[in-house]
Amino acid sequence: MTMATDGRHQPPRIVVQEISTRDEMEEVYLIRDEIFVHEQALTNDARFDPDDRRSIHFLAYLDDKPVGTGRLTILSREAQVAWVAVREPFRKHGVGQAVMTAILERARDEEADYVVLNAQSHALDFYRGLGFDTLGGQFRMGGISHQVMLLGLTSGGGDEAKRLFGASRLGI
Ligand SMILES: CC(C)(COP(=O)(O)OP(=O)(O)OC[C@H]1O[C@@H](n2cnc3c(N)ncnc32)[C@H](O)[C@@H]1OP(=O)(O)O)[C@@H](O)C(=O)NCCC(=O)NCCS
Repeated sequence: MTMATDGRHQPPRIVVQEISTRDEMEEVYLIRDEIFVHEQALTNDARFDPDDRRSIHFLAYLDDKPVGTGRLTILSREAQVAWVAVREPFRKHGVGQAVMTAILERARDEEADYVVLNAQSHALDFYRGLGFDTLGGQFRMGGISHQVMLLGLTSGGGDEAKRLFGASRLGI
């Protein structure tokens, strides 16, 4: 919490930005390291991902401190989301939702038909709250249970998203 000049407590101010500098990318990597390498042991390298170069990266600041991140990759009409994370002490304050809102807004600007991500099973309700639906069964990645989730951005909604996603994977 921050203190206003009149002494009253203000709710924390969340600002989400698309990054544009190497220093900001380093902040993204620091958050990924903290959560995916050290907290979850999902991977031992959260810094080398070949899709990073062609992706849009987001940083969330809480009272000017970088506390969350997420990545959007646009592949034609498909938007992929990955590496969504909020530093543990700052969870459940709306930071993750703010990151995803910024990502989804950019995906809409890019005219993506749908958004797809591999959700960790503990975070399914977080993504459901943003309108995502699960697709298929659970699978393990990095020792953690995951499930594919989809969000349709066209007027056809989730059904259309499932059809387009299925067609893209079949190459039709
Ligand atoms: C998942 C994660 C990004 C959520 O971030 P967060 O800042 O805590 O989320 P928010 O505070 O914006 O929560 C938004 C809503 O989702 C809910 N929510 C958040 N995390 C949740 C969880 N793990 N399970 C169920 N609901 C959750 C919140 O209660 C809130 O609901 P409300 O709007 O009804 O109050 C965060 O827990 C995290 O970084 N976890 C570790 C890394 C990780 O698992 N990333 C996801 C990889 S797929």
